[in-house]
Amino acid sequence: MSTKRNSRFSPAFWLTAAAAVLTHGGAVQARDLTFCIDEASPAAAVDEKLGQAIGKQENVPVQFYHYMGVPKGDDDDFDLHRYKGMLAGACDIVLGFPSDGKSELPKFLRATQPYASTGFVLVTAKRSRYNSLDRMPRGTHVAVAYNTYANYFFRHHANVVADIVEDDAAALQAIASKQVTGALLWRPAVALQSEKQHADVDMHALSETDSSWNLVALYSAPGEKAAHDFEAAVAVLRTNGELARALGRYEDATPLTEARRTAIQSSEPAAQTTMRTRAAPKATCAAAPALYTQAQADAGKPLFLGKCAICHGPTLEGRAGPALKGKMFLPASAGHTVGDIFTIVSQNMPATLPGSLDHGDYVKIMSFLLQQNGYPSGAAELTFDGALKSKTPMVYQGP
Ligand code: HEC
Repeated sequence: MSTKRNSRFSPAFWLTAAAAVLTHGGAVQARDLTFCIDEASPAAAVDEKLGQAIGKQENVPVQFYHYMGVPKGDDDDFDLHRYKGMLAGACDIVLGFPSDGKSELPKFLRATQPYASTGFVLVTAKRSRYNSLDRMPRGTHVAVAYNTYANYFFRHHANVVADIVEDDAAALQAIASKQVTGALLWRPAVALQSEKQHADVDMHALSETDSSWNLVALYSAPGEKAAHDFEAAVAVLRTNGELARALGRYEDATPLTEARRTAIQSSEPAAQTTMRTRAAPKATCAAAPALYTQAQADAGKPLFLGKCAICHGPTLEGRAGPALKGKMFLPASAGHTVGDIFTIVSQNMPATLPGSLDHGDYVKIMSFLLQQNGYPSGAAELTFDGALKSKTPMVYQGP
């Protein structure tokens, strides 16, 4: 989850850093339009349909190069350079790249205009009366797949109990068997999986920060013309309804327009304010505040090693759970507060026995996490309630 949350251009639910496995090697005729498609993406079949429609529209033969993304969870070394290599030889255009519409790509990559919008959704049984997290009564159970970005959406919904399940299939099963009222899942994955399981579900758009994404195609300088033709073809397909047909349930009917993005962000005032503060260049120069004592951090270390290291690694480098130290964990752009992180720690951790430690132990572990992320110790002790309510930004202070 760590990179999913952090690298805005690599939510990488399936995108990966492994070498491309090209399933259709061989020489490509100059006039062909070639698309790279991630076989591991739940949207792969849809991307292929889209590519076919584009080829038909442009009246050129199309070819597909399927590369294999690493299964979700293994994306910590995700590297955009991988696309550079693919675009230099295998294809003109990489399909299905999720973009938040805000971030910049490295110089060697360019993105087309979005051709679809998608994102995380609340999935419920058909005709459920609960079409939003806020409307669910206290204690409602909502499933979420282990180690996905959607785990963050629970932070602002104290009424909902998160049930962590293994994968999308298990989440849909939990809905079918009424173990949970809903699930938070990635829309294309639901489209694919619900078909496989013959699960009859509804999907409701979420208004959480970073729940909505655009899908763009990537290209590099030599693919400029191909990208231009692609955009022109998409425009035609959009008008004649072919695009919607190709995308099917994979697309969110409400596109991620500027207006919608603003609405999403203003629905989370706290996060927005922090992000704005963080965006100011001087904010990074301000000294991090002292929030705990040295003795607290010292006492936190053995507790961390005993209770947390098995999943997060003895040096906080991440294992089954994400890294808890560094820029990937706490990028300035994420706008996390000490309260946000402490809420996760004290309510959801250890993942196997949430909330099982003493208040005092949680505070010591939190002190250790602050220390490890570059916050200085001071004279005042961190307290449980203070940490929970703290609006102090929590951003990695190291290089
Ligand atoms: C059994 C494995 C396991 C144990 C033990 C565990 N965690 Fe986690 N932790 C996870 C997983 C998995 C996640 C990712 C969230 C998810 O998908 O549910 C996570 C997420 C987190 C996060 C949020 C990370 C982020 O990137 O925002 C924090 C903070 C955290 N854990 C702290 C702790 C602390 C502190 C302890 C010890 C008290 C602990 N965890 C024990 C598995 C574990």
